[in-house]
Amino acid sequence: MQLLYTASQIDQEITNVAAQISEDYQGKKPLLVGVLKGCTVFMAHLLVRLTCDPEIDFMTVSSYSKGTESGDLQLKKDLDCPVADRHVLIVEDIIDTGKTVHFVREYLMEKGAASVEVVAFVDKEQRRAQSGMEPKYTCFKYDGDPFVIGFGFDYMERYRNLPAVYQLEEHDK
Ligand code: PRP
Repeated sequence: MQLLYTASQIDQEITNVAAQISEDYQGKKPLLVGVLKGCTVFMAHLLVRLTCDPEIDFMTVSSYSKGTESGDLQLKKDLDCPVADRHVLIVEDIIDTGKTVHFVREYLMEKGAASVEVVAFVDKEQRRAQSGMEPKYTCFKYDGDPFVIGFGFDYMERYRNLPAVYQLEEHDK
């Protein structure tokens, strides 16, 4: 595997994004909605840097049927708390085609959220199939072809534990 973002670069970017979010959501008690499972490591690092009285909840939406290809979307785990009139921030590890974040955003708006914004750890904006899905906050923009692993990103459920982000190579499969 090839190192893409070091732990220290990641720490710096998340700290910067957390400062912006803390400022923008001061007094709004935002609800952070993580999209499982890839968001877990990013969510934890972001959360401990926020100073805007956040709450958290999680959803599971299937987007990749197998391996690295996008498949049909399906809600697999619903939120536990109501979102009506809440300022919601969707926490995504990666936005690729944009289909997952589109699905989640529509769902939250239907449930009556006061506002819905997106924070992405990595944005693959050149892969976008769904327009209008640009995140308000982004740590890294990535336009490479290799699949990324580590810091929550998996390949067939492996490698989420790595403390930095790497590009997957053939012999990692
Ligand atoms: C990944 C990622 C996003 C989604 C992005 O989830 O966490 O939720 O795909 O892809 P899209 O923009 O093309 O919709 P995945 O289904 O791989 O599950 P995981 O989070 O459990 O790894």
